[in-house]
Parts: sequence; structure tokens; C-alpha cells
Amino acid sequence: PLERTLSMIKPDAVSKQLTGTILQRFESAKFTIVAAKMMQLTKEQAEGFYAEHEGREFYEPLVEFMTSGPTMLLVLQGENIIPAYRELIGKTDPTQAAPGTIRADFAESTRYNAVHGSDSPESAAREIAYFFVDDEICAPAVS
Ligand code: CMP
Repeated sequence: PLERTLSMIKPDAVSKQLTGTILQRFESAKFTIVAAKMMQLTKEQAEGFYAEHEGREFYEPLVEFMTSGPTMLLVLQGENIIPAYRELIGKTDPTQAAPGTIRADFAESTRYNAVHGSDSPESAAREIAYFFVDDEICAPAVS
């Protein structure tokens, strides 16, 4: 199916000036960028986005990292993009990520792992709506 996913280029990758390099990988994979913006997340925005992880030992440092500098927020669209995007970025822990994936190439650790991707159609819908209103998405609605 034609799907959308929420992508984030996280503060570590933005500060290393890897935004263009990472966007090039998305476009090389034939993903369509249908929305994009830079935003430095507030503590409230980051806490809400990661609410499912509240109470885990990595939650507070994750929120601190994600608010430490600008993030690039993107909505990407394509056939089967949710699994295809996850394959392109690689596993959360870069030491487990396949060679040639974005995380294998650019992530430093499980925390400073360069990019985010939605893990299911349900989380993609929730995550896109968390950061974007319909008017910001430049493509016909996906049924
Ligand atoms: P992401 O998949 O974008 O969303 C959840 C994030 O939590 C994940 O990326 C990691 O950045 C972070 N995370 C998950 N597990 C750990 C962990 N064990 N240690 C540190 N950060 C983690």
C-alpha cells in the first residue's frame, strides 16, 4: 500500500551537518518528501512524543538529547514505506544495524542514533499528527 511515515533527522545528525546527506538517501530510495520543517523540540513536545517510554531508564536522557538542538521533521510517502524506511535506517542500536544503513554509517550509539522512523501504520498516523497539520502535507490524502 501507499503509506506515509514520520521521519526525524535528530539533533546529532543535524549538528554534524548530515541533513543533506540523509535526505539524499531518502530520495535515492524513491521516497517522496511530502512535508518538512526544522524545529527545536520543547521538553513538553519530546516528553509527549516519547510518552510510551516514560519510566524507562533511557527516557530522561532521550528527552534531553531530543531537545538539545534543532530536529528536521519529515513526512515521507511511498509504497510500503514503513518497512522500507526502517530497512534503510537500520536497527536502533547502530552496532546491530546492517552495513550501508543510515544508522550504521552515521549513528554513534543507541541514543545518538541520527534518525527516527515510525514502527507501524498506527504509530505513523499518530506521530505525523503530533507534528503536522493536514495543510502542511503537500500530497493528496492517502486512503
Ligand atoms: P527511536 O526508535 O527514534 O525512538 C525511541 C528512542 O529511544 C530510540 O530511537 C532510541 O533513541 C531511544 N532508545 C531506545 N532504547 C534505548 C536504550 N536502551 N538506551 C538509550 N536510548 C534508547
